[in-house]
Amino acid sequence: MFLNNYIKINDKQYTILEKIGEGSSGKVYKGQYLNQFYAIKQQEYLGEGEYEFYQHLNQPKESQKFRNLIQIYDVVKIDRFIYIVMELGESSLYDETVNNKIDKTNIRFIMQQIGSGIKQLHEDLNLAHRDLKPENILVQTIKSEITQETQQIFKLCDFGYVKNINNLKTKAIGTPYYIAPELLNNSNDLYNKKCDIWSFGQLIYELISGSLMFQGDTIQKIQNQILTITDGDIQNLIDKLLLEREYKELLKNMLKRNVKDRYDINQVLNCLKPKSRSQSRNTSVESKNYQNPAQISIRTTFQFQGQIIQKQQCPLMENKFNQNQCQFIQKTNNEQKRFPINNNFVPNDQKKLDF
Ligand SMILES: Nc1ncnc2c1ncn2[C@@H]1O[C@H](COP(=O)(O)OP(=O)(O)O)[C@@H](O)[C@H]1O
Ligand SMILES: [Mg+2]
Repeated sequence: MFLNNYIKINDKQYTILEKIGEGSSGKVYKGQYLNQFYAIKQQEYLGEGEYEFYQHLNQPKESQKFRNLIQIYDVVKIDRFIYIVMELGESSLYDETVNNKIDKTNIRFIMQQIGSGIKQLHEDLNLAHRDLKPENILVQTIKSEITQETQQIFKLCDFGYVKNINNLKTKAIGTPYYIAPELLNNSNDLYNKKCDIWSFGQLIYELISGSLMFQGDTIQKIQNQILTITDGDIQNLIDKLLLEREYKELLKNMLKRNVKDRYDINQVLNCLKPKSRSQSRNTSVESKNYQNPAQISIRTTFQFQGQIIQKQQCPLMENKFNQNQCQFIQKTNNEQKRFPINNNFVPNDQKKLDF
């Protein structure tokens, strides 16, 4: 909590206006400094990859070029919390989807935008996101000064699980509905950044169909479905969508179980290049309303280990699940390497000020 509703970060005193979001790792507030609004996330830990990511963005020129990643302005540690000052998004893709506010006829543009954000992470920064889902994609509306037309821009946020792509080993990390099968099996193989393509495919399937591909009221049930579904089953589900053939083919290639067969981000973006002016915008897609927002508790990011089975203290799950089948490790757990942020990057002489 903030005392007197303000916080001083690097000599800027932000007024805290309201809480705008909360996930497994932190709380996000809308803040104001002078006449500008910001999002300020308060969390207890920084992930190893997250730290690396913020260091990249610490170079002002660098952060400019990542148009589809939410911009980060400041990361500081004050007392026991880390504060991340970011560009403010208007809403999340999740909110827009459940409120049926997304113009699905513009699916090519939406996929290009999210795909560009993934490419900026995968190719420019050499990182995988590992927790792509509608909640972690923010939507902003911009107005062209020339034509006065408004346009939605999609930006990736929540970099708490980003990781260097050459070194992906920690399995079973992510959010149940979107997690790729290779992160759930028991092999010790390294996996790669294509886990994000699977999640991307899942969220597009959800957007178009109005429901999740995997249904279930427990994590275990969803996990079993992901582990047992075949490429053929997935193709049948995609074929049922009212969607142009080229997008169906693309989705099938994004949702291949075998990582080697699955498209990488460049292949995805190549398929989305506009072929002609008329094709660059509207597409016929089914206009079903969103049906199943799914249990909020299962939509939460978590890290668990394949089939193992030992309940840990977890306030979120306690009431909802009486399953002993899932080892839920919160982000604050030591299992995942966490470390205090580096003094060069984050001044640790910040005094505890106004909260
Ligand atoms: N920059 C932002 N602008 C607006 N809303 C945001 C911003 N960052 C996060 N949010 C909202 O807060 C929620 C939680 O933030 P997130 O970074 O995803 O935290 P967690 O790691 O706990 O999931 C997001 O799903 C989104 O709705
Ligand atoms: Mg999140």
